[in-house]
Amino acid sequence: MLKYSEETMKRFSHPKYVGEMKDADAVGEEGNFKCGDVMRIYLKIKDNKITDIKFLTYGCVAAIASTDALCETVKGKTLEEAEKLTWKDVVKGLGEMPTIKVHCSVMGIEALKDAIKKYRNGIKPVFDDEEPCCEEMRKIGKVNE
Ligand code: FES
Repeated sequence: MLKYSEETMKRFSHPKYVGEMKDADAVGEEGNFKCGDVMRIYLKIKDNKITDIKFLTYGCVAAIASTDALCETVKGKTLEEAEKLTWKDVVKGLGEMPTIKVHCSVMGIEALKDAIKKYRNGIKPVFDDEEPCCEEMRKIGKVNE
């Protein structure tokens, strides 16, 4: 069994920033090709500052804990300050991360950068009420309307 730090388990058990933000100004996504999980980051931006942030993921303990820590770090920062953050800045407060889980903890920062890039390029978030996985299942007849 993988050993996570106490801080990682605390964040995983009680994440403060999990949730959807239907009025987000920007949404970014990142997929993890190793496991197929997805991270989505929602940003509320005012006067070039990130005033609110939330995330949703299908990811694991490392993905949830590191992205929750990322959200806390990023809230209140300017877009430029947030862009300069690295994966190491985010996970250093979590203690040791199992090496096999490092790729999971990178998803949040990549999704954040995707959201900022889309915001700068004027790409508005599109909110689907359908979960992508359910849509795919519907197409192949596994889920009824
Ligand atoms: Fe998929 Fe960690 S195993 S995000």
